[in-house]
Amino acid sequence: MPRRALNGMANSNAANALDSEFYQQAERFFPNQSGTALTYDDVTLATLYSEILPRDTQLDTKLAESLQLNIPVISSDMDTVTEGRMAIAMALNGGLGLIHYNMPERQQLQEVDRVKNHVHGLIQEPIKVSPDQFISDVLARIEEKRFAFSTFPVVDEQGRLLGLLSSSVVKPRYAKRKVSEALTPRDQVFTLTERKLGKNPIAAADKFFNDHPGIHKLLVVDDEDRLRGLFTMSDIERITQERAAQFKPARDAQFRLVCGAAVSATRNAFGELDRDRILTHVGGLVERGLDTVAVSTAHGHTKGVGETVRMLHDAFPKLPIIAGNVTSAAGVTFLADCGASIIKVGQGPGSICTTRVVAGVGIPQLTALYVCSRAAAEKKVTVLADGGITKSGDIVKALTLAHGVICGGMLAGCAEAPGEILEIGGKPYKQYRGMGSLAAMKAGSAARYGHATGDTARKVAAEGVEALKEVAGPLERTLATLIGGIQSGMGYLGAANLPELRKRARYIRVSPAGMKEAGAHDVVEVKTGN
Ligand code: XMP
Repeated sequence: MPRRALNGMANSNAANALDSEFYQQAERFFPNQSGTALTYDDVTLATLYSEILPRDTQLDTKLAESLQLNIPVISSDMDTVTEGRMAIAMALNGGLGLIHYNMPERQQLQEVDRVKNHVHGLIQEPIKVSPDQFISDVLARIEEKRFAFSTFPVVDEQGRLLGLLSSSVVKPRYAKRKVSEALTPRDQVFTLTERKLGKNPIAAADKFFNDHPGIHKLLVVDDEDRLRGLFTMSDIERITQERAAQFKPARDAQFRLVCGAAVSATRNAFGELDRDRILTHVGGLVERGLDTVAVSTAHGHTKGVGETVRMLHDAFPKLPIIAGNVTSAAGVTFLADCGASIIKVGQGPGSICTTRVVAGVGIPQLTALYVCSRAAAEKKVTVLADGGITKSGDIVKALTLAHGVICGGMLAGCAEAPGEILEIGGKPYKQYRGMGSLAAMKAGSAARYGHATGDTARKVAAEGVEALKEVAGPLERTLATLIGGIQSGMGYLGAANLPELRKRARYIRVSPAGMKEAGAHDVVEVKTGN
């Protein structure tokens, strides 16, 4: 071998040895820090030789045998974060929404229904008009609601289609006419029955618009000719373009969007686990196509949670069960032995959460994730990092140990999160509250924190706060920023996919000065990175 190559090899061995002394893999790094609990900002990841461009990285993650996502991000089961609308948007972007349980059981069933029956692109509740309205009424409504469109289906009291009021007649000139005089009659309106939409409604609608030049709206009816929805050509075109997007919607085997829902270990009046009620409710969720149920509590390493998980696992052996929250290896092992296949890790890291302050309990998230991920690997279950994520870099660090992250605060300001927009000092905000805040516990989540719902009338210690988040626009935009960050991180580590990221990660602790150096500093910031 030529001398230079030999030297080169010696040098690179020495270089690798030097690197690994400072930048250590999880198996060495975390045990070396075993006396101290670390969280995201306490460490940084070291770069590695890379041939991977961020845009080529794959973000799919298998959480359980029958639950695969295209991005490793889940929206939290909180009443200011995930209901049907958020769950639809999460799944359309490749992730998963966990519908919270601070609502009547009947409503949770309906929210899951909404997600599982969502037909992408189909406007399921189009704005309709009735035949005896005047065009002036329609014009006034457009003005009042600021609609950007002026074509409306016309229906009778039973919702049956009578015709279409086209924009060409919705003009002040025709104000005094009745809708019934001005509409395009039913027999001249193009429709498709729900059944004809088949498994791929977008393709059916796309073909329709191709075959009918000049028609921009397609109405969908049921077998009794009742209006079931509306496709617009511009929506279909946008969706067809999106199809080329890297991260496809997360769907089940029947092409429906995936959806999760949370339940608690509900107790009856005698303080015993209310088995019948939990089983009946989860049975209803499963009938509607639920993909995963989360037994969601603040302390998952407990008899009640264990019994609930075991009971659900026995009753629904094919349903992946998420259970938590825990921060210990024994907690993971316990829940896995009870039948959970996905374990939520996090006690006290949440942005609205005060468990560590109130109860003096909880573990900073990165140490908890290391401990739990090693126990999870033994048990062949997966781990979700729940809470404390404030930037995309935290997600990259979390994904070096976990199979996915659960976000609350990062998503609570998005348009798809429940709740009204409030304006304070001219700035728009949305409410965000901990499920252990007094207000949320009064609304039903007390069981999550080990209190009976009636207890909230007495003095119980809240473990969460009520807060506000700045309005953040559509979820898609927030996710795009997060995903971009995850992909950058993977590019720096030369990881083409998430298993490689978990394998390649090397950590080092950061000093307070190092932390300061990490953000923008010593400049007058005029524009943030996003
Ligand atoms: P982030 O940081 O994403 O955290 O806003 C969301 C996670 O926090 C947990 N959570 C709470 N924890 N008291 C707590 O101790 C609370 O009131 C509370 N509410 C939510 C939950 O795990 C959620 O996903």
